Amino acid sequence: MKSLLLCCLVILSTLINNSISKDAALETVSKHGKLAVQGTQLVDQSGQALQLKGMSLFWSVWMPQYWTPATIKSAHEGCHSNIVRAAMAVEYDGYLTDPSGQMQMVETVIEAAIANDIYVIADWHDWHGEQHLEQAKGFFDQVSKKYGGYPNLIIYETFNEPLDIDWSSVVKPYHQEIIKVIRANDPDNLILLGSPHYDQELDQVLADPITGQTNIMYTLHFYPVDTKQWLRDRIQNVINNGIPIFISEYGTCAGTGNGTIDAAETALWYQWLDQNQLSYVNWAISDKDESASVAIAGTPDTMICQDAYLSESGRIVVPQNKK
Ligand SMILES: *[C@@H]1O[C@H](CO)[C@@H](O)[C@H](O)[C@H]1NC(C)=O
Repeated sequence: MKSLLLCCLVILSTLINNSISKDAALETVSKHGKLAVQGTQLVDQSGQALQLKGMSLFWSVWMPQYWTPATIKSAHEGCHSNIVRAAMAVEYDGYLTDPSGQMQMVETVIEAAIANDIYVIADWHDWHGEQHLEQAKGFFDQVSKKYGGYPNLIIYETFNEPLDIDWSSVVKPYHQEIIKVIRANDPDNLILLGSPHYDQELDQVLADPITGQTNIMYTLHFYPVDTKQWLRDRIQNVINNGIPIFISEYGTCAGTGNGTIDAAETALWYQWLDQNQLSYVNWAISDKDESASVAIAGTPDTMICQDAYLSESGRIVVPQNKK
């Protein structure tokens, strides 16, 4: 009897442990609810570690044809994502000159993510955020007012990729201003923060992290042709010292978005990401003639991530989202 009980307990605990599928498409908002950061780990409403895996849209101003509800449905079901990133352009005729048009595009994506039961990142997709603080505050105030009430859904990314500017004197104060604006409307949804040199200088963050805040993570971006073991070593040290990391963008190629695809180095990255239970979002849902695009030229939004329309990169990324 005792051994029977023990056996049942073992089976039960195995079932519980396996209740998170490797297929991100099954790990939806309705299943996991509110996100939080515990230590360095992203966790769900029950405190269980959760990995988000998914796709970033391409710059809103250059790939508007994929900022549609059909694309978001495809991202979930076809690309096996439980997260999508709305990379809203700021410069290049983006938010700075057309705030209402850009906001409308972001809202379309957020509402499609709600309908498709997946998480969504509102991304201030800017390389010069420190020059656009007031506009960014306006954007995040609006988004957090409107969507902060969905306790389980919206993720804010305050500054896509700072360039070679100083963390402590420039980037950190910028984030602190934006955090203040968001937290006035939304006390606890996840906020993602960029760091200098395209989200790779996390050592500067480690030396001077933002304190007194909850549910914030720092973004790492990597492109395997340029960034290899040395960057994994750097970030592992940062994580081991208590800094929570979220990969809001990665590619399978170089940071230029084009050229060789490095499948072997990408596999090393995936192994490291999964070991550390990190979340990762692929760049990008695009059919542009460059290596980083997930789709071949002319792919309709309804066909994103369908086998016949996958690029070389897409054939690496989509299976990974199910692994
Ligand atoms: C990417 O590289 C390919 C092959 O060299 C080239 O044909 C294509 O035009 C490049 N794409 C862009 C956007 O430059």
